[in-house]
Amino acid sequence: MAGLLDRRLWVVTGKGGVGKSTVSAALALASARAGRRTLVCEVNTQERVSRFLGHPPVGPEVSRLEENLWAVDMRPQEAMREYALMTLRFEALYKAVFENRVIRYFLRFIPSLQELVLLGKVLWHVRETRADGQPAWDTVVLDAPATGHAISFLRVPQVLLDTVPPGPLHKEARAMRDLLVDPGLTAAVLVSLPEELPVNETLELAEALRGQVRVQPTAVVLNATSPLRFEEGELRTLAPVPGLSDAAREQHAGALRSREARARLESGVGVPVHEVPRLFSERFGRAQVEAVAGHLAALVGRWA
Ligand SMILES: Nc1ncnc2c1ncn2[C@@H]1O[C@H](COP(=O)(O)OP(=O)(O)O)[C@@H](O)[C@H]1O
Ligand SMILES: [Mg+2]
Repeated sequence: MAGLLDRRLWVVTGKGGVGKSTVSAALALASARAGRRTLVCEVNTQERVSRFLGHPPVGPEVSRLEENLWAVDMRPQEAMREYALMTLRFEALYKAVFENRVIRYFLRFIPSLQELVLLGKVLWHVRETRADGQPAWDTVVLDAPATGHAISFLRVPQVLLDTVPPGPLHKEARAMRDLLVDPGLTAAVLVSLPEELPVNETLELAEALRGQVRVQPTAVVLNATSPLRFEEGELRTLAPVPGLSDAAREQHAGALRSREARARLESGVGVPVHEVPRLFSERFGRAQVEAVAGHLAALVGRWA
């Protein structure tokens, strides 16, 4: 399989709490290590990626974390203004448009303007170029909103295409949609957990991505799995030792759930499943994210 390094935009998605920000941080780190200028974007959340990487929180400005790695936390208010300035170019024009009472009144009727602006900013960075015309970023990692919200977030360009009349907004929505659905540019990574409900939700998310957003999932990351450590025979041998036997049985049951989750995801989503084992540590920080990045090396692909 060609790795993520072939694409510029890595959309990391999944339900809240499954490890999306952890995986986003790990993938961003792997990309930076591969020598690529990498920007990791969080959208309207409690920002966590920079903290996972052992850096202070970043704000709405693109901030450098370490070699080849930058981060930004996008919030609707600032994004609205910045995005308008990026597309309208001039402060005066921004004021004329966004601070005009009549226009503001009409803007309320544009569906999901907030999502449009946040996603627009992310995609603007994907298209951003340097003075020499080269892309400003080799990798943009998007820690996308949680499931459900993720679909409405990623669907905004298509919704606009279907609802707004031809004009600049329509053109912008088309450019955004075209970029998102381009399999040569965009990769979608679905994060899941080895439990029945999260797996069901991942299967639904994959279907919604394909059907409603027209984005093909690239891979699933099955996070916090338990490795198979015991054979049934060994468990019977442990049976006379009460405490030990219980712990071993519990571990074994977890390992079987991980195996089943993997099989369901492989057949249900039809893309490679990359496992990240459950890590046991008091604190979850840089060292743990480095370990996660190690487990995702095959997903990222060739290393520089
Ligand atoms: N592989 C793992 N092993 C153990 N704990 C994990 C693992 N991945 C994530 N976590 C823990 O789960 C919590 C939620 O992860 P996070 O990435 O913030 O989830 P999300 O962004 O999906 O809400 C984190 O605090 C982290 O400590
Ligand atoms: Mg998160």
